This record gives sequence, structure tokens and C-alpha cells, in this order.
Amino acid sequence: MFYITTAIDYVNGAPHIGHAYEKVLADVIARYQRLRGEEVYYLTGVDQYGQKVQQTAEKEGVNPATFVKRNTKLFQNLWLKLGLQNDGWAATTDERHRTCVQAILSDLNEKGQLYKKAYKGFYSVRQEQFLTDRDRNEAGEFGPEWGQVEERDEENWYFRLSDHAEWLKEFTAKQTDFVIPGFRRNELLGALANSGEMDLCISRPKERLRWGIEFPFDPDFVTYVWFDALINYISFAGYGKKEGSDLPDFKKLWPCAAHVIGKDILVPAHGIYWPCMLHAMGFSDGEMPKILVHGWWNMKGEKMSKSLGNVVDPDALADKFGVDALRYYLVRDITTGKDADFDLDRLVMLYNQELANELGNLCNRALNMTARFANGIVTTTSEIGEDEQKLRASLETVTAEYRAAMDAFDIAEGLKAINRQVTYCNAYAERNKPWELAKDPALKGRLDAVLYHLVESLAHCAVLLSPVLPDPAERIAAQLRMDDLLKLKLDDLKWGLVAEGHETGKPKPVFPRIVIEEEAS
Ligand code: MSP
Repeated sequence: MFYITTAIDYVNGAPHIGHAYEKVLADVIARYQRLRGEEVYYLTGVDQYGQKVQQTAEKEGVNPATFVKRNTKLFQNLWLKLGLQNDGWAATTDERHRTCVQAILSDLNEKGQLYKKAYKGFYSVRQEQFLTDRDRNEAGEFGPEWGQVEERDEENWYFRLSDHAEWLKEFTAKQTDFVIPGFRRNELLGALANSGEMDLCISRPKERLRWGIEFPFDPDFVTYVWFDALINYISFAGYGKKEGSDLPDFKKLWPCAAHVIGKDILVPAHGIYWPCMLHAMGFSDGEMPKILVHGWWNMKGEKMSKSLGNVVDPDALADKFGVDALRYYLVRDITTGKDADFDLDRLVMLYNQELANELGNLCNRALNMTARFANGIVTTTSEIGEDEQKLRASLETVTAEYRAAMDAFDIAEGLKAINRQVTYCNAYAERNKPWELAKDPALKGRLDAVLYHLVESLAHCAVLLSPVLPDPAERIAAQLRMDDLLKLKLDDLKWGLVAEGHETGKPKPVFPRIVIEEEAS
């Protein structure tokens, strides 16, 4: 089983492009794994508790429950629009999640992993955590990244994070694929080497924060939002589920093949708190999840933020340019792990060039010419020359390169591999000029060979493209009249998908060009 999750998004506003990127990236990986023949479970969802959410709700004058419900809908609707094929939905106000978090708190308490103490210190409201002197900048101050910082003196519950520090250092050092890509693992190793052995404050007094999961053995406190949120990965996978629950079978899903998260939440949340929490619960080294860390979409080299007013709205983009263009751009113009600049001109250019022009052209040519010059009938027993052999060799190479890239979560390289075959086929058509061959009945064998090689290549490309662009792949399969094409698995992609005498359908534009109308001056 390939169990894949994303970070769960705070619902204190509408979804932004970073949220959409992560969800689409995980969806592409999930779909690719299904294509490989794996059984997949894809979980995504929303992080609904915490001070940020409570504060924004208060500002808007609504109660947090209503506020969260309303905003959660925005996320759900967008994921539906973007075609996410998620199997589960993690919403932290879900009763089943609360029961699981409380059972874990009780269990950890019984194991002596929790204790209560008074603490006086500085607290970042934005990051919802106490700060230490290590968090001060060179000028000795708490920088703007911490937002509003206040001094607090209060009693809280702590988790004995320090008990697990040595184990985590050793584990991260030996488990080379614990965090992917490697340079992100190095960041974690660096953070672990410099970390002081501190315990983690996991409660908030109710007088300050009501919007959270209540401590089962101390009702004056609610659970710190990160401690509750991280548990979603197991609670919604069926960990400790009640009899008769419709949640999945935990033993089947766990360990998680990939928690897909952004670089900002590796240290400390996913790289330190989460493995230590699991370790404290009794999870062995072999039961630790893998963490796939992606980079950020920026704007002209700057972070996107509400205060800078440069946040991109994925919903509006999908309406304006179409879901296909958006899904494609989100995984085509960024290398998994690294940052990239979000650039609308490039979104339009890459879609128009690689999809509307190149792939659209191949679809149109292959089907149109088969219809016009061969009554829509593919003849496979035809004259195979050197050029056809080269085309087949190119397809084989491209498929292997695509596989290697996609196995390494490098979607952009996978797409570039497909594009190489598409360009190859278009050049092959230009070279062999079926429209000329059609003029001479003596060249019918050559004509059939060229048409066949274009149609067969198109069928392969549609399958390879399907994890990123499932709907266009369906449209191509329908025009090819190959209803079962997208039921094929990666290993089935051998030459000969199109049968002798197969009748193809009529071409209809799969990728209408995006035309940007000049703003009226
Ligand atoms: N609620 C926490 C995650 C809890 S997971 C147990 C959170 N939420 S968030 O809404 O702030 O961010 C959700 C995800 O979106 C994170 O993985 C974050 O890295 C990602 N992104 C937020 N902005 C982003 C970009 N501009 N670009 C790419 N991803 C970004 O953190």
C-alpha cells in the first residue's frame, strides 16, 4: 500500500496557490503510483483548531465553528474543481480525530511522557509557541517572523521531547530516505545538531484559547494545535479506531510512504515533534513515515503574503485559464524540493507551447490524417523502416526516463520526457510527410506505417500524461476510441497497444489555446 498525505491547511482564510500546489503534487504522485499498479490511499484535509483560527473568527465576529465550516467548504470545493482523487478527508474537528488525540494524550500520560509545570517566557502568537533565546536574531530581538510576541507566565502540560532527542539524531543519520530530498534531510541534521534538549509545551489554558481539543484528564486545557494536527496522519488512517468505524485499517496503511509538506514545516514540526511523538507512542524505526519536502512558490523572488498583497488565488486562476493549464503549470515549472517564481506569462507560454501546440498538434495530426487518408483504420502490418525503429527506440528511452523521474518525485522532468517524445513524433511526421505519401497509392504501405506510429505514440503519451492531466488523457483516449487505454498500468506500456484494423475517432481540440486579450486601453 502506498499511503500518501499532505499537510492539512489552516482554514483561517481562502486557499492560496501554495496549498493548491501541494495538493496537486500529492495527487499527481498518488495517480502515478496507481499507474504503477500500487494500491494507494491519499489523505488530505484541513487544520481547523488553534489560536490563528480563533483570532480571525473573532475579528470577523463569528464563532469559530461557523467560521471553520464556511472556510473548509472553500477548500473542499477547490479540490473538487482541481480534480483531486483523495481517498480520505482529514478535518480536525471531526469527532473521530478528537477521540484519537485524547486517547493518545491519556496513553502518553500513563507512560510518564507528559508532565505539568509553570513557565514564564516569551510567546509568539503567530507561531503559537513559546520562544527561547535561540529564537532571537543577531540584534538580540525576536524578528518579524514571530509576529506579535508577548510575555506569559502560565502552567501547562509538557511532552518529554528530550527523552527522544538522541534516538532521533541516530535515526535521521542512518535512515537516509527519512527526509527527501537529501538537502532537506541535511537541514534537519543541522537543526538536530544545534538543538537544545527541550521539552514541548503541548497545552494551552482554556482561558486563553478555547478553540482546541480538550485534555481528557485536565479540562482546563486544550491541546496545542500542532500536537493535534500531526496526529491526523494516523487518526484518519484508522489508528486506535473504534469498533464499527468506517476509517481504514491502520495496519494496511502504515507506515506512511510520504508526508508531502512544505519546507517551512519540516523543522521542528515534522522533522522533530512528529517522529518523537510516534517514538513515544511505541512506533519502531521501521514504522517511521517518510517526509517529502517541497519548496515554495514565490512572487518575483519574494515570499507570497497577504501583507504584501501578492498572493495568487488558485480558484480565480482555474476559472481564467482552466484546470488543465493550472495543474500542468503547478508541477511543470518547479523542481520538487526547490523554490520557484510563480509567473503567469510562463503558465500561458508552457500551456500554449507544450500542450496546445506540440501535443495538440500530434493529436490532431494522428487522428485527422488517419481519418482522411486511411478511413480512420490503423494498419499495423506495414513497412517498418529505420525511421520507425528510431521512433520506437525514442519512446522506450522516454518511458524509462519518465519512470525514473516520477519515481524520484521529479514531476517536471517526467513531463519534459513526455514532451521529448511528442516533439520527436511531430518532427517524424514533418520528415515523412504522410500528406505527400497519400498522393501515391504505391506508397500506401509507408503511409500506413507513419500513421500507425503516430497513433501508437499518442496512446502511450496519453497514459504517461494521465497522472498530471487525467481529463485530457481521457479525452485523447476517447478520440482514439481506446476505452480501456487508461486502465493500463505502466508495465503494460509495450509497443502494440493499438490493434490491427483499429478504428480511431474524430479529433477535437484537447487543449484549446489560451488567448490573452490585451487590456483595452
Ligand atoms: N496547518 C499547518 C500544517 C499542519 S500538518 C500536520 C500549516 N498550514 S498552512 O496552511 O500554513 O500550510 C499548509 C501547507 O501549504 C504547508 O505544507 C506549507 O508549506 C504549504 N505552503 C504554504 N505556502 C506555500 C507556498 N507559497 N508555496 C508552496 N507551498 C506553500 O502549516
